[in-house]
Amino acid sequence: MAMANRQQHQPSHGITKQAQVVVVMVPFPAQGHLNQLLQLSRLILSYNIPVRYVGATTHNRQAKQRVHGWDPDAAANIHFHDIEIPPFRCPPPNPNAKIKFPSQLQPAFNTSSHLTEPVSMLLRALSCKARKVIVIHDSLMESVIQEARLLPNVESYIFHSVSAFAVSLYAWEQQGKIIEDSDMFPRDIPSLEGCFTAEFADFVACQYNNYQKFNSGCVYNTCKLVEGAYMDFLEKETLKEGNKHWALGPFNPVTIPERSKKKKFCLDWLDKKARNSVIYVSFGTTTALDDEQIKELAIGLRESKQNFVWVLRDADKGDVFGGEERSAELPEGYEDSVDGVGLVVRDWAPQLEILAHPATGGFMSHCGWNSCLESITMGVPIAAWPMHSDQPRNTVLITKILKIGVVVKEWELRDAVVTSNIVESAVKRLMASTEGDEMRKRAAEMGESVRGSVAEGGVSRMEMESFIAHITS
Ligand SMILES: *[C@@H]1O[C@H](CO)[C@@H](O)[C@H](O)[C@H]1NC(C)=O
Repeated sequence: MAMANRQQHQPSHGITKQAQVVVVMVPFPAQGHLNQLLQLSRLILSYNIPVRYVGATTHNRQAKQRVHGWDPDAAANIHFHDIEIPPFRCPPPNPNAKIKFPSQLQPAFNTSSHLTEPVSMLLRALSCKARKVIVIHDSLMESVIQEARLLPNVESYIFHSVSAFAVSLYAWEQQGKIIEDSDMFPRDIPSLEGCFTAEFADFVACQYNNYQKFNSGCVYNTCKLVEGAYMDFLEKETLKEGNKHWALGPFNPVTIPERSKKKKFCLDWLDKKARNSVIYVSFGTTTALDDEQIKELAIGLRESKQNFVWVLRDADKGDVFGGEERSAELPEGYEDSVDGVGLVVRDWAPQLEILAHPATGGFMSHCGWNSCLESITMGVPIAAWPMHSDQPRNTVLITKILKIGVVVKEWELRDAVVTSNIVESAVKRLMASTEGDEMRKRAAEMGESVRGSVAEGGVSRMEMESFIAHITS
């Protein structure tokens, strides 16, 4: 009787045996994190497994609104579970802060405490209906999914939103081990100094209280062809816990479906440019540059005499739908002075489509992991300008290990302004030198193999199939 009822309440696409398994995504409310788990939702849904994407209403809306490069139908079946939370403070970013970590987002991060009870209720409800409930939660949302351990048919998996390289280093350091110079971990790994605010470090410590003790495994947005050595390292490091690790990435689409292409001025602009002749400049959603830095960057880009598309937006606030955004000032007459060579974009840009465009031959980036992986997928080398968090270390991975990029700003010089001369020479080195051409060639080859890895028989596809088999068994 109960069984019959249960069947009736399944969604129409959920009658298969597999669909008695439900996946619950619990993302962390910052764009780079929201996006990655939304992308993973699409992939899991393609195996006909229903997915619940759980978050505060405003953050779910942010995730949906900003996604690009998808077939419009792909998201239609993701079930967004919107949770109303009390209002929280949304101060503007401070471009003059010494530490570039987006401390303005801390009140939004703190709202996760309001999700614990609703998420527990949801897990209890799903646990009664489904054969098995699989929670995939951001490593920073550990405290929200405590209920998972109390329910017999619920399994939880940690999603690490950063590179396997960065996770390997954290794991190593946590055990107090010294990082010795090796092919895997080159000398002079940037310190964690200046990467986070003290308040965020406290937040992380709280989340990691019960870290790995009861989770069933870890998933990564990476590809073994890019970070195989670090995936092996992590397997070995956690042998005692018996945790499994899956490299399921890249989560982002590897081709842009024709139907999803939107008419965008910047893409039309790129259509008129020669192959690999444009550098795309964007520092993601958590970077606020001060006025002086913006001016130096502007001049440096112009003096490089290379084509560029520059996304000049302010960092996100905790609620991206509320209030005014600071519009950065460019030097007087700047946009006219670069007419036809440089394009300044001030709204949300279709990054994946820009990177996939044949005219784009380089990416000046803060090296957030999402951006790194999108660039790798599309075969575009990087001019690395890390700002905070895991970005200084991703810079090492990109430039020293994968050798598909140049450094714009060394982490040791993080407090100094990057002058227009430095910008100019980094851009020229990447876009107009033999060394840059070699990096572009390596990046193109890596991109091709990464795109191939998600096709039938490819290493990421096989990893995904093994994960799906594991969670549905
Ligand atoms: C975030 O939560 C912590 C712990 O409850 C608290 O100490 C801190 O003041 C909060 N920060 C903000 C910006 O709301």
